[in-house]
Amino acid sequence: MLDKIELYQGDITRLAVDAIVNAANRSLLGGGGVDGAIHRAAGPGLLDECQTLGGCDTGSAKITKGYHLPARHVIHAVGPIYSGAAQDPILLAGCYRTSLHLAMANGIQSIAFPAISCGIYGYPVSKAVEVALDATCEFLSVHAIPRRVIFALFSPAHLAVYQRAVAARR
Ligand code: AR6
Repeated sequence: MLDKIELYQGDITRLAVDAIVNAANRSLLGGGGVDGAIHRAAGPGLLDECQTLGGCDTGSAKITKGYHLPARHVIHAVGPIYSGAAQDPILLAGCYRTSLHLAMANGIQSIAFPAISCGIYGYPVSKAVEVALDATCEFLSVHAIPRRVIFALFSPAHLAVYQRAVAARR
């Protein structure tokens, strides 16, 4: 499963993949962080489509087109605001699982995830990476699509945490 996983350091909006995942909020109407960057790069068509979706529950995700992004689709996932409660990892895993199911249902072969909830929502990246890898490896062990999963880390510090977590599983 790990052979299908790649790590990338940089801006997820630059990736020419079938889908990038947005770390959105329940309104799906934009915000700061990676959400703001994705909406800026995609252009106003993205917000128009998001306005038709009726929001999204925490721990779930919805798909749109990518508009002016190099990515063909955006999967908008709503991570939990970190609280230290037992449901945090359950909700975060739900973001990864739902995004991967949406990818499979839409024939998406390559998908890039940011570190959902690890910015404004305060999830410690050392804990979030284990949830991300568990959920992704579990999915990839059962399903053939997507074929490539990229974790796009904005900061070198987050990349280093992911590198260590992946290395520990090899
Ligand atoms: N490419 C890749 N990763 C990025 C980029 C980028 N261009 N920009 C930021 N990151 P955050 P959250 C990283 O705060 O914690 C929004 O207002 C960032 O370093 O974007 O899930 C939404 O509307 C961090 O590691 O998302 C919600 O209200 C990761 O992306 C709320 O923030 C996620 O940080 C969601 O908070």
